[in-house]
Amino acid sequence: MTNTIPTPTYLDEFSPPQRILLGPGPSSVHPRVLQAMTLPLLGHLDPQFFRVMDDVCEMLRQVYRTENFMTVPLSSTGTGAMEAACVNLLEPGDAIIICRNGFFGDRLADIAQRCGAQTIILDFEWGQPVALPALADALERHANVKAVGVVHGETSTGILTPLPEIVNLAHRHNALIVVDAVTSLGGHDLRMDEWDLDVCYSGTQKCLGAPPGLAPISFGPRAMQVINRRATPVQSFYFNLKDLESYWNQTRAYHHTTPISMTYALRESLRMLLEEGIENRIRRHARVAAALRAGLEAMGIGLLAAAGYRLNPLTTALIPEGIEDAVVRQRLLADYNIEIGGGLGQVRGRAWRIGLMGESAKETNVFALLSALEQILPTLGYEVASGASLSAAQRALVDYADGGVLP
Ligand SMILES: Cc1ncc(COP(=O)(O)O)c(C=O)c1O
Repeated sequence: MTNTIPTPTYLDEFSPPQRILLGPGPSSVHPRVLQAMTLPLLGHLDPQFFRVMDDVCEMLRQVYRTENFMTVPLSSTGTGAMEAACVNLLEPGDAIIICRNGFFGDRLADIAQRCGAQTIILDFEWGQPVALPALADALERHANVKAVGVVHGETSTGILTPLPEIVNLAHRHNALIVVDAVTSLGGHDLRMDEWDLDVCYSGTQKCLGAPPGLAPISFGPRAMQVINRRATPVQSFYFNLKDLESYWNQTRAYHHTTPISMTYALRESLRMLLEEGIENRIRRHARVAAALRAGLEAMGIGLLAAAGYRLNPLTTALIPEGIEDAVVRQRLLADYNIEIGGGLGQVRGRAWRIGLMGESAKETNVFALLSALEQILPTLGYEVASGASLSAAQRALVDYADGGVLP
């Protein structure tokens, strides 16, 4: 018998390959951002670090287009920000409507339920945006709804739900609006103050161009008032906004140890975003998404998300009949160093989730992926006309540059 105990690898140096990250996040990170993480560590109560905190908050306000003071990077990923929004706004017995048109709406509903809130779930077909009449009807039928939760960019389906009318509707019924912008912030137009959003949260690892680990969140005046008037304590110590506020305001009272190096990374990624310009970054995401969609469609690959509501940072491609999801993704990873995502929930095994976010939102990545698929798919019995998808993507880029096609 041969010895089957594997040789431990922990003594080896770890040298990860340079992947092209085209999944639902994390997206690739620019060397400037990675380099920022290697800067000397400061303490979380060092006055030099306070400068970094102030810079980050100020730049986040610009990206969120808000003047909200409580616009801060939470020490967590996007899911922590979902928790923070819910635990701070909701008290046991409060009613919240969650618009669920995908996996992340479902997660938001789960979190709200765990807060002891009466959670009214409105279901919409996966691949469709939230429909206004259903929400209007629910708000009519349920009095005293405290908040409405909606996912702006649903990463499981590739749908972008337009926000302004939903916000107005919620406010007409005196309900707050909680917006998940994990995949949309930095990749689509989002205007916290102009659209009058009450709570909006995101993550660093998508269109903002930093590694995963922080969750920028912003609380507007209405939300702050609700939090200040709570009758019961927030059940979470870690995400209790009032305590966090004391660290992020000039009191600088210790609450927990901030992830210093991640904050450096976020500072650098936000600097890069503002150097590029918010509008330019949004346009870049739209442009490469248009090229990707054109290329996929030229290969005969359908898109899950309804036309007119497609999320630019993330495209959901329907896997052709007879093609095995995992085989293609493994080949992409092993032979081309390209990562794309598999389907989540209802579309598991039926869709690929292709992210073009932040540093990954590049024309060269679109062409790398399309040509890899053109190589792989015929070997699995799915015939693809050579070069057709690349030409279609090229045409879409030209059309976009000419102002012809605005997805
Ligand atoms: C729309 C949306 N909301 C929430 C999350 C959760 O974020 P995280 O995985 O960073 O905790 C994600 C993650 O992909 C997401 O896409």
